Amino acid sequence: MTDRSAPRRSFKHYLRNWLSWAGLVLAASALFAFLLLVAIDQFAGHRNPYVGILAYVVAPLFFLLGVALTLLGAFFQRRSERRAARAAEPLVIKIDLSRARDRKVLAFFAAGSIAFLFLTALGSYQTYQYTESVQFCGQRCHLPMEPEFVASQHAAHARVECVACHVGRGATAYFKTKVNGVKQLYHTVRNDFERPIRVTSANPRPPQAICEQCHWPKKYVGNVERTYRHFLSDEKNSPFAVRLLLNVGGADPNNGPVGGIHWHMNVANKIEYIATDELSLNIPWVRMTDSQGIVTVFKTPDFRGNPANYEIHRMDCMDCHSRPAHKVHTPNQAVDLALATGRLDPAVPWVKAKVVAALVKPYKTKPEALRDIADQLRKDYPDPAVSGPIIREAQAIYRVNFFPEVKLDWRTHPDFVGHKDWNGCFRCHDGNHTAVDGQMSIKASDCKACHLILAQGSGEMLSKIDARGHNFVHIDTEYSDFTCADCHTGGLQK
Ligand code: HEC
Ligand code: HEC
Ligand code: HEC
Ligand code: HEC
Ligand code: HEC
Ligand code: HEC
Repeated sequence: MTDRSAPRRSFKHYLRNWLSWAGLVLAASALFAFLLLVAIDQFAGHRNPYVGILAYVVAPLFFLLGVALTLLGAFFQRRSERRAARAAEPLVIKIDLSRARDRKVLAFFAAGSIAFLFLTALGSYQTYQYTESVQFCGQRCHLPMEPEFVASQHAAHARVECVACHVGRGATAYFKTKVNGVKQLYHTVRNDFERPIRVTSANPRPPQAICEQCHWPKKYVGNVERTYRHFLSDEKNSPFAVRLLLNVGGADPNNGPVGGIHWHMNVANKIEYIATDELSLNIPWVRMTDSQGIVTVFKTPDFRGNPANYEIHRMDCMDCHSRPAHKVHTPNQAVDLALATGRLDPAVPWVKAKVVAALVKPYKTKPEALRDIADQLRKDYPDPAVSGPIIREAQAIYRVNFFPEVKLDWRTHPDFVGHKDWNGCFRCHDGNHTAVDGQMSIKASDCKACHLILAQGSGEMLSKIDARGHNFVHIDTEYSDFTCADCHTGGLQK
């Protein structure tokens, strides 16, 4: 099929060259990978934003590359045909199936293409599996999400994948996560992501419906007993524990009495609130709509704003369980836990106070912090046999709970499930939120509304259980003032 006059030819003609063929195979594989990824993504139980990057960014890039190669091949083919025509020489690039060599090459090419398609399928699926994994979210995206990854490893949701909570349902949520995934990748590469990363209105926290995929809100929990073991910052590291019977209760009349802490989730009633700061630490306005549809508005005396000017949130699980996964411990909690489990020796004088003091100092980077913590504790305990294990434990605590490079520690991400280190429940239950008619306030004055103190203190005292609940004995004085967080910060006492 040599043609020296080179008349106008169809575009298809110019595609007859190896480069264009390779380009076509690449484009076809990319299209195939795209369809496969979209299918995987549609039919997988939950959705993964990074498959979006693969499907909608990487696969199309390869597709375009394939198309470009095809065109380039056609271009070269045309040029060489024109040249050949001009020089009246036989064509250099030519595919002729009547020739054994060309048939062999074609067979080889076809086999290669099938293998390539197969590998593309395998590769896409493997990549998909990988982007689903916690390692991908937490480790590849190392710096930005390191805190969430590290912290999630020691909490109740350690076995729950990031995507189970973080990728929403429905087409809009799906598309948003795709866009977000690409945006996050971009900011990670440019290293200009927000520090610390926060949930924002553009990048909101998971909706309650996500929690409900695993947790049944109608479940009756009833009473939950918890023991909080502390050690005081005195020379003897005196133990001080509180045994609470928390009245978690339930929210559905068919499964148990409605009441207690989970009453807020009663499907029949609705609590809404206004927060005046980014972290929702201040809640001056609350609106309750009960099962009969009766609406009551509670507010603090100093709130004079017009509710219409604020964003009104509906209360959900995360308003109490604000750190359900990836919770970072306060230095107090972490050191108390180490003492309670024997990783720190309570017989070493002042060890609670010294370790907390070394942890809470402001550091710029992790290596600097680990070095300074060691220096500090070596000064406090000159005997290396004493300081060695203390330094190791203090550094271990620092590693999993402090992330100075991304400016994240317990101070930046409050836990609202109680009221000791943050106002948590007391953001509303502080006795200061009264109904507009002044008749009612959110239940507050009664410490026993939410829990009974079964026992407290240490030794003999801790074994005195009272089923009706003790009054709180704050170290050694009876105590009933509400704002615990005025003094307790999770770090050093104010
Ligand atoms: C049990 C559900 C759940 C799981 C599992 C989970 N998260 Fe979260 N995550 C949340 C909630 C709820 C918030 C919002 C917290 C808030 O309101 O401040 C959040 C917030 C975040 C934020 C914003 C910054 C912050 O810390 O508040 C990042 C980043 C994040 N998660 C990453 C991850 C990564 C990475 C994983 C997997 C290692 C993961 N999450 C697993 C529920 C979850
Ligand atoms: C994919 C399933 C799944 C999702 C989604 C999920 N959880 Fe969980 N949750 C679990 C598992 C599993 C446990 C551990 C249960 C156990 O160990 O007894 C758990 C435990 C908990 C606990 C008890 C924690 C403790 O310290 O004992 C709370 C509170 C909780 N989840 C709240 C939430 C909230 C709030 C959300 C929504 C942001 C959520 N969960 C989403 C599976 C899930
Ligand atoms: C008003 C605050 C509040 C709200 C809202 C709330 N919880 Fe809780 N929840 C608590 C408290 C307090 C506990 C007691 C245990 C504790 O201190 O961690 C608890 C306990 C739990 C437990 C552990 C129960 C057990 O058997 O140990 C789970 C699971 C849980 N909540 C899930 C949820 C889910 C899911 C939602 C949303 C549908 C939700 N909670 C809404 C305050 C709340
Ligand atoms: C956004 C405001 C808000 C927050 C935060 C909040 N509550 Fe409430 N809570 C209310 C309102 C409003 C009521 C209903 C008014 C009342 O009964 O006084 C209520 C009622 C209750 C009740 C009584 C339920 C019943 O049986 O009638 C308990 C118990 C309770 N809350 C516990 C808690 C605990 C524990 C926390 C923190 C983990 C908490 N609340 C956080 C607003 C809030
Ligand atoms: C609105 C409900 C509510 C009220 C009212 C309330 N508490 Fe609590 N309290 C809680 C919850 C929830 C926790 C558990 C926090 C957790 O699991 O981290 C808690 C924990 C505690 C603890 C243990 C904290 C620790 O870390 O050792 C003490 C002590 C305590 N409360 C004392 C009181 C006293 C004293 C009062 C009355 C002035 C009071 N509480 C009123 C909900 C309440
Ligand atoms: C006026 C300041 C102040 C207020 C308000 C206050 N505390 Fe304390 N609390 C302290 C001090 C100081 C200690 C001793 C700390 C130490 O030795 O480490 C302490 C110790 C404790 C301890 C044992 C040790 C520890 O660090 O956990 C608990 C539990 C406790 N307080 C709970 C509460 C609760 C709950 C409230 C609110 C009802 C509250 N406190 C209000 C100052 C206060």
